[in-house]
Amino acid sequence: MALRSVSRKSLPLGLAVGHVRGLQSFSLPELPYDYGALEPVISGEIMQLHHQKHHQTYITNYNKALEQLHQALAKADSPSIVQLQSAIKFNGGGHINHSIFWKNLAPIKEGGGEPSKASLGWAIDTQFGSLETLIQRVNAEGAALQGSGWVWLALDKELKKLSVQTTANQDPLVTKGSALVPLFGIDVWEHAYYLQYKNVKADYLKNIWKVINWKYVSEVYEKENP
Ligand SMILES: [Fe+2]
Repeated sequence: MALRSVSRKSLPLGLAVGHVRGLQSFSLPELPYDYGALEPVISGEIMQLHHQKHHQTYITNYNKALEQLHQALAKADSPSIVQLQSAIKFNGGGHINHSIFWKNLAPIKEGGGEPSKASLGWAIDTQFGSLETLIQRVNAEGAALQGSGWVWLALDKELKKLSVQTTANQDPLVTKGSALVPLFGIDVWEHAYYLQYKNVKADYLKNIWKVINWKYVSEVYEKENP
């Protein structure tokens, strides 16, 4: 099985590309690493399915809902406009969340390590006591999440504090507050781990920290909290 990511145009994740009848449409972003690059933490099979099938399906359905919205707006069809909100939220959220998730991860030899002591690491130590305490808090919230969803480390730009948040289903972090900026999110849908970890979500949550791209996460923090 080919474990390289699909070769697509190199575009920033989440950038709108292409047009459908005058509308911008979204396409699957290329992974910044090969499908097998996160092994043994996340198998290449999971990564390929997750990216090519799950993420692609969110994008396909998001584009479809946006086209339907475009048509409903042209007809001033209010019932249809309102009815499309849930499909846009779910599939658009799925696209937003997965686009963040891929960038949050990196092969152990390239990512890993610890957050920058000069910025994010200092904030984590100040607010949570230690990185280990933060990890325990995120994992506890992820393990306790009922059904499908995401657990996030956020920067609250109003309070200028870090915040651990969860969102249900594919709700993006912005649904919990417009001041919340995602630093990283962990996908705790079963499709993210079940093929490898079966029902032991706790092991998936414990291991994923080995492939968190702290370099990238620290850069986002520094950009959003200058
Ligand atoms: Fe997912």
